[in-house]
Amino acid sequence: MAANKLSCTLAIGALLCLGLVVLIQAQDKPVTDVCLGCICEAISGCNQTNYCGAGVCGLFRITWAYWADGGKLTLGNDSPQSEQAFSNCVNDPYCAANTIQNYMVKFGQDCNGDGRVDCFDYAAIHKLGGYGCTGELSYQYQTVLDKCLNTFGNSNGIDVRTTG
Ligand SMILES: *[C@@H]1O[C@H](CO)[C@@H](O)[C@H](O)[C@H]1NC(C)=O
Repeated sequence: MAANKLSCTLAIGALLCLGLVVLIQAQDKPVTDVCLGCICEAISGCNQTNYCGAGVCGLFRITWAYWADGGKLTLGNDSPQSEQAFSNCVNDPYCAANTIQNYMVKFGQDCNGDGRVDCFDYAAIHKLGGYGCTGELSYQYQTVLDKCLNTFGNSNGIDVRTTG
């Protein structure tokens, strides 16, 4: 009987633990792959050629401050303090994507006031920053984003906005 009770306790413990892991993972990576792909498409045409210019680097066009807020992730043996740590990371699709996830864990919010936090919000935060995401997006960025999410599904959502 005691053994039965123990295995029952363990089973419930494992379930709770699993639930927690799933929850933590969901919080660690709030942005779906489709959303990342559409942000990438809207901001650079998802051009994976190494790029730095006008204060931004990489296929997601990330600034140094954004990378720093995103936890100063690094590639290989780079020290976060090293000169090239920033550009090396954000020119790498995975390091850049993880930077975005970290940034959104910090700054994720309902920018457009529609009652949910979805890819439209993440895309605005990505472009305008965590403190300015209620601002206007460029026509080009918004158009490519909307088209992409309409094609591949706004999978943070629940809802795909129909564009006129
Ligand atoms: C990708 O970016 C590179 C470097 O900025 C540029 O030379 C190239 O033309 C771009 N490719 C496309 C397909 O836009």
